Amino acid sequence: MSFPINRMRRLRASDTLRRMMREISVSVDDLIYPLFVAPGLDVKLQVPSMPGVYHFSVDAICEEAKSVRDLGIPAVLIFGLPDHKDEYGSEAYARDGIVQRAVSRLKNEVPELVVITDVCLCEYTSHGHCGIVRDGEILNDETLDLIARTAVSHAEAGSDIVAPSDMMDGRVMAIREALDDHGFINTPIMAYSAKFASGFYGPFRDAAGCSPQFGDRSSYQMDPPNRREASKEIALDIEEGADIVMVKPALSYLDVISDARMSFDVPIAAYNVSGEYCMVKAAAQAGYIDERRVTTEILTSIKRAGADLIITYSAKDFAHWQRNV
Ligand code: PBG
Repeated sequence: MSFPINRMRRLRASDTLRRMMREISVSVDDLIYPLFVAPGLDVKLQVPSMPGVYHFSVDAICEEAKSVRDLGIPAVLIFGLPDHKDEYGSEAYARDGIVQRAVSRLKNEVPELVVITDVCLCEYTSHGHCGIVRDGEILNDETLDLIARTAVSHAEAGSDIVAPSDMMDGRVMAIREALDDHGFINTPIMAYSAKFASGFYGPFRDAAGCSPQFGDRSSYQMDPPNRREASKEIALDIEEGADIVMVKPALSYLDVISDARMSFDVPIAAYNVSGEYCMVKAAAQAGYIDERRVTTEILTSIKRAGADLIITYSAKDFAHWQRNV
């Protein structure tokens, strides 16, 4: 059947009809808000490359977390900026490390908020790589123990979900075994499974102080053109025990999210990363685009591609907009 029997515009005629015909919608329940915790007292410092994103000290992050909870956002993803860095990233797995202290305060003061912790070494290593470095090489198997220790130390501090972002092979299995050995059989793993070596992480690296001091991350993060390989990475992580898998970045990798949705039945998260956020902020500040409209469209596209959860620096803005429709 075709025109004039068929008229696609019939169901677009009014706002209410459009609302009824909508196939998907983004909910605040889908969102995870990243937070950066830094040393000091009463610190709330704007990250220069990321308008609206701040470094918070442990005390100040609790206040921020309360406002996140009050907006109905269910979860935060915590990144740490340590006091000092060394070759082995030892503050990543220190009992009194910056993330461990923030998590135990958060779970005391805002217990209903789900606290997810990024498990990686790059913010804590002097060389800025996500693993142990020897003779200019980023070692895989030697790194696994440190990654697993980091995850266990986060769980001990009260982390609800651990999220390894290092891209070493075998790290999900190493973390699962270590968590189970320490009695954390119910702590889920959200694995950064298809994490690409992306230029879109630029502003984050300023925010987290984790730029590699030599070379880049291409020997462990994925090569951007590789779609089939992404499915393999995800399948391996599920086999190793990942409860939630992630595609990162989101916007330039919607095909990868869509493939994952078709192939796997586990929850899929997508990371709407710093560079994606900053492009929208900068263009909106210049008056070139409507920030609310474009942000909502971007989040909708990520959901439509198949993501269940979206990690986004826009979570608070989106929650505010939902309140004042
Ligand atoms: C750490 C990590 C990075 C991001 C999340 N965890 C940076 C990187 O891999 O270089 C990027 C987040 C963003 O850009 O918003 N491994």
